[in-house]
Amino acid sequence: MTITTAAQAAYIVAALLFILALAGLSRHETARSGNTYGIAGMALALLATVGLAIDGAISGRNLALLLAATAVGAAIGLYRAARVEMTGMPELIALLHSFVGLAAVLVGWNGYLHVEAHLDGAEAALLKSQDMLGIHSAEVFIGVFIGAVTFTGSIVAYLKLSARIKSSPLTLPGKNLLNIGALVAFVLLTAWFVIDPQLWLLIVVTVIALALGWHLVASIGGGDMPVVVSMLNSYSGWAAAAAGFLLENDLLIVTGALVGSSGAYLSYIMCKAMNRSFLSVIAGGFGIEAPPSETTAHGEHREIDAEGAAELLDAADTVIITPGYGMAVAQAQHGVAELTRVLRERGVTVRFGIHPVAGRLPGHMNVLLAEARVPYDIVLEMDEINDDFAGTSVVLVIGANDTVNPAAMDDPASPIAGMPVLTVWEADQVIVFKRSMASGYAGVQNPLFFRDNTAMLFGDAKDRVEDILRAVSTLQPAR
Ligand code: TAP
Repeated sequence: MTITTAAQAAYIVAALLFILALAGLSRHETARSGNTYGIAGMALALLATVGLAIDGAISGRNLALLLAATAVGAAIGLYRAARVEMTGMPELIALLHSFVGLAAVLVGWNGYLHVEAHLDGAEAALLKSQDMLGIHSAEVFIGVFIGAVTFTGSIVAYLKLSARIKSSPLTLPGKNLLNIGALVAFVLLTAWFVIDPQLWLLIVVTVIALALGWHLVASIGGGDMPVVVSMLNSYSGWAAAAAGFLLENDLLIVTGALVGSSGAYLSYIMCKAMNRSFLSVIAGGFGIEAPPSETTAHGEHREIDAEGAAELLDAADTVIITPGYGMAVAQAQHGVAELTRVLRERGVTVRFGIHPVAGRLPGHMNVLLAEARVPYDIVLEMDEINDDFAGTSVVLVIGANDTVNPAAMDDPASPIAGMPVLTVWEADQVIVFKRSMASGYAGVQNPLFFRDNTAMLFGDAKDRVEDILRAVSTLQPAR
């Protein structure tokens, strides 16, 4: 068996391992094994690729370069992954997508420079003899376009998610026309390039795509960012598939298509969960108008201290805790788990209500609560618990904001209008843990804080939960 045959066989096994990885990652209990399949598939794919390069009589210098690049990439990947906080995961993912986009652009350019720029060379002659030059040109052009959109789009997503730039949507005049114009230009230029592949056309499409990627993601508001991350995931898959066609690498085509289609489906599911139009989000906020400036007067808010909160909790029959990003930042989940245990021992029914986009990545809160050993059966999804807030004695909103904002239901002009939210305000009493009156990720004020049955408990969520635990321990049990 030649190295090439063995490598092709290894590619098929790697593709199967990637499919198993996706299947495993779709459920809590099998996520770990899914990850292991993914790592094994990628290791096999890397080995097979190096094997193919050796079989293709790669020079010693190029082989050394290939191995050095692999080692540098692996070292950076290991270093970043070992240090990243759960809360920093989406921005790391966005950054990694930008590398896939950049790689697709470089592969496309390389494909052009190698063939079209040397039209008298052997490779071009082969393509010409098989009437394939047009297809090759189209692959180059489409690959560069998708890659460049993914590259700049992912960089903007990274900057927004890591709060290096503002998360509010950029609303240039005629932004929809700009996006449509760029797409029409791309289609026309592709046809031109297929007929007459010239370097300047490739330069123009690269610049248009870089600008379009930047504009598409900059136009999307913070509240829709989860969808953007999975959408970029999908784009990066298609960019990889395009590179696979150029490199004639079947594994890259299969893997790219898997990532592309699963990312698109995830974006669709998330849009449904957030009551957003899928098309409008992928088209860079198409049809979404600029939010009106905040003019509503919200009135006065009321404050409570830890002792007051402890008394309310101890006297409550039922408590629902709705955690959000702030609980993750404060690392308050262990204190919250302990408070849950203490209250349950005192005869209070405690449950959790989890919003599908609470935190900064899907399942963020579930992972934190599981890590703190909160029993699974009291952690409920939004749809399972939303009808139960009415009739609940106390709701603790711990570091959540957008996901409990009544404006999503009451104010059609709000940027998060229509997004399903946890209807915490229907409870008898709501206590909101946060450090200030600042807005949440979507950058909109929350009228919940000003309701008569809401009290603010200011400070770091972890410290305040510990204060409540101390205060509860000094109380005589209410029942
Ligand atoms: P947010 O709306 O971001 O609100 C978090 C709140 O936590 C803030 O109001 C902040 O107020 C408070 N906070 C921060 N640090 C704290 C600390 N140490 N102690 C106490 N409070 C603290 O969170 P959410 O309700 O979980 O909503 C999630 C948002 O993120 C949504 O807009 C969602 O679309 C977006 N998003 C979600 C995802 C996914 S997939 N889940 C991905 C990207 C973005 P202070 O600053 O006043 O303390």
